[in-house]
Amino acid sequence: MRRPLVAGNWKMNGSRASIKALLDGIKQGIGAVTRAEVVVCAPYIYLPDVEAQLSGSPVAWGAQNLSTEASGAYTGEISASMLLDFHCRYVIVGHSERRSLYGETDAVVAKKFAVARAAGLVPILCVGETLAEREQGITEQVVARQLQAVIDLEGVAALAAGVIAYEPVWAIGTGKTASPEQAQEVHAFIRRRIAASDAAVAEKVQILYGGSMNAANAAALLAQADIDGGLIGGASLKAEDFLTICRAAN
Ligand code: PGA
Repeated sequence: MRRPLVAGNWKMNGSRASIKALLDGIKQGIGAVTRAEVVVCAPYIYLPDVEAQLSGSPVAWGAQNLSTEASGAYTGEISASMLLDFHCRYVIVGHSERRSLYGETDAVVAKKFAVARAAGLVPILCVGETLAEREQGITEQVVARQLQAVIDLEGVAALAAGVIAYEPVWAIGTGKTASPEQAQEVHAFIRRRIAASDAAVAEKVQILYGGSMNAANAAALLAQADIDGGLIGGASLKAEDFLTICRAAN
């Protein structure tokens, strides 16, 4: 049985004060969530605060990005070892906003996956098609290409050390969620695709859905056979909504 995983992706939101209040709320309500793993991915600068507040709690934390490089003259970058200094367990790689706004290619994303894994972090690899790609009927090709970049660099077995998040770009931050059936179809495709190379890895790897998942639609999405959890943006900024999703995953 795959353990359910709910990861909050705060993106570039919050302040020291609002994050403290959010984490107080999550910590108060998380007691009943015993089966699902819960993670928050914070802006880098708040990671020391997040570590201080969550240490000893059942909630893990992580970052939203990392450098492909280990150290050196890379102004503004943050390395895997820096994230480990603050006991991050997870790091998101290849989020569609990084791909589209910061030009991260499949090759860069694959390198980030590799660097995170080598450091002992759990990379959350985001894949997903744009609306235009869906309308052209090439969703599966796009997702397969994004996955293949990691498999080519690292081998299929490496996927088991990470988590995959299927995030249709048209559903991110738009309030337009993929229907449970639409999401399940792509999740099942991803798992079949991995199974073609390695059935054990396919059975083991957690595949999260992301894109306007919220307190109202989470249960139906999470009830799908191949949806193992969620990557939550907007709804992860409200403790009660995030906790409702965590309980649904539980
Ligand atoms: P959203 O974002 O839940 O606000 O749509 C999800 C994500 O981008 O990870």
